[in-house]
Amino acid sequence: MMLPTTVEELARRLAVDPALITKHLMEIGEPDEGNATSLDAATASEVVELVVNRNEKPRPPLPPVAQDEPTPRTAPRVRTIAVQSLGSPAAFERILLECRRAVTQGRDGLVLDFTDAEGFFPNAVVPTVAAIEHYRRRGLDIRLEGLPPAASAMRLDSPIAVEPETLRREPTMARVWRYTSHKEANDLTTAIVEAIRYRVECTEGVAEALEWCLYEVLDNVTQHSKAPAGFVMVQHHSNNKTLAACVADTGIGIQRSLASSVTHRPKSAFDALTLAIQEGVTRDPSTNQGNGLFGLFQIVEQNRGRLNIGSGRGSMRIDGNRVSGDSDRLVIGPDNHGTTVDFQLATKNAVSLARALNYDHQNLFLESLETSEGEHAVVIRQQAGGAGSRAAARELRTFILNILNEGAPHVVLDFTGQAVVSSSFADEVIGKLVLEMGFISFNNRVRLRNMTPTVATLLDRAIALRIKAR
Ligand SMILES: Nc1ncnc2c1ncn2[C@@H]1O[C@H](COP(=O)(O)OP(=O)(O)OP(=O)(O)O)[C@@H](O)[C@H]1O
Ligand SMILES: [Mg+2]
Repeated sequence: MMLPTTVEELARRLAVDPALITKHLMEIGEPDEGNATSLDAATASEVVELVVNRNEKPRPPLPPVAQDEPTPRTAPRVRTIAVQSLGSPAAFERILLECRRAVTQGRDGLVLDFTDAEGFFPNAVVPTVAAIEHYRRRGLDIRLEGLPPAASAMRLDSPIAVEPETLRREPTMARVWRYTSHKEANDLTTAIVEAIRYRVECTEGVAEALEWCLYEVLDNVTQHSKAPAGFVMVQHHSNNKTLAACVADTGIGIQRSLASSVTHRPKSAFDALTLAIQEGVTRDPSTNQGNGLFGLFQIVEQNRGRLNIGSGRGSMRIDGNRVSGDSDRLVIGPDNHGTTVDFQLATKNAVSLARALNYDHQNLFLESLETSEGEHAVVIRQQAGGAGSRAAARELRTFILNILNEGAPHVVLDFTGQAVVSSSFADEVIGKLVLEMGFISFNNRVRLRNMTPTVATLLDRAIALRIKAR
């Protein structure tokens, strides 16, 4: 990082016309107030990178460094960094800074040693994976060592590509996925939210809202970022009952994207973010509506969840109704400002997507379960987990509760083709539902159909035992 300077001084140091510096300042969204304008250290570094990377002049001698360690005369080709955590945006920035330094100092490689690292959360894990890919593509040999098993399972070193086969085989939650198209974004979102509907009981509207938000944020990467891929991970934190999602790219960033429109000229990177979450703000009104980030913001507010957007040099944090932020974020590189959208929804706080977007819409998930009689049905025989194990039954019970929470008046459990069910399945699904919902409400909202006499007897028995044990 450089020391603060002025336009004039920087132009002199780089031996270029001050007008070139001014041009770059406009491009990175910095106000230009004449040659005496003082530039903070991050802005100055960015301008230097632009001048150098675009070959506007031969590489200048390295500018005086303030915080960076001086490069030894025989700098080791590979540097090793001990990573303490990947649990916050600041932890990500620390790794990013090391990648940038490694390149500036002309090293071949960087070893990230995770032996003592604790805390791996989407808000740092996902942008780190994106940045690692970016720097590897640019020839920096980044190695990850000492990853604890849980972090290696997350696929920090090699995110999972979205393919029909990987979507079937891999767990979708707590994994970093890499997608490259709108179709992959769609398939991945469907798979992640389906897994959630079986595993996490969500109150009214939450699963549907999450599905909508994920799809919008994922799709923004393919539509606006100009990055080769987007990266995403969703985690369930059962202790504080939240679903945490993070989507990152290494593209042009929101400020530059909006600045490409005819109407928007955000003055700073932070202003660009406050603008992007407003209704109808889009870089191209002929193709888009400016709904995505606005809807996300509305849903997070309704749900009393959290939203952090970091894009280019701006970061914005929304916690309840408090909005804060600045324009000091570290960028991936001068041409790759990068965007990270990190949000958390509380599974116990109801939300309404219709209210957030101010229009009535069909719940596509409920529609997919609808029979010709207009009921919502689950065919037990078609459930991937079958009707044997307690684990599969627990997932089915969560799924049934989620269908009811999303607004189905009642749900039909169709036992067609199921000659028998295990007693643990009967207890885990039916016995526990009766207990949780109460007998009357269970009778009103869960209808059992097409049972063989054996299945009916097994279910009766499970209910009787549960009621007796109470
Ligand atoms: N990942 C991103 N990279 C670059 N720019 C982005 C990114 N996400 C959003 N933007 C910018 O923010 C603007 C607002 O995004 P938003 O999702 O609210 O609307 P939209 O995508 O333009 O329209 P819609 O979501 O209704 O299709 C976009 O038009 C784009 O300029
Ligand atoms: Mg959008």
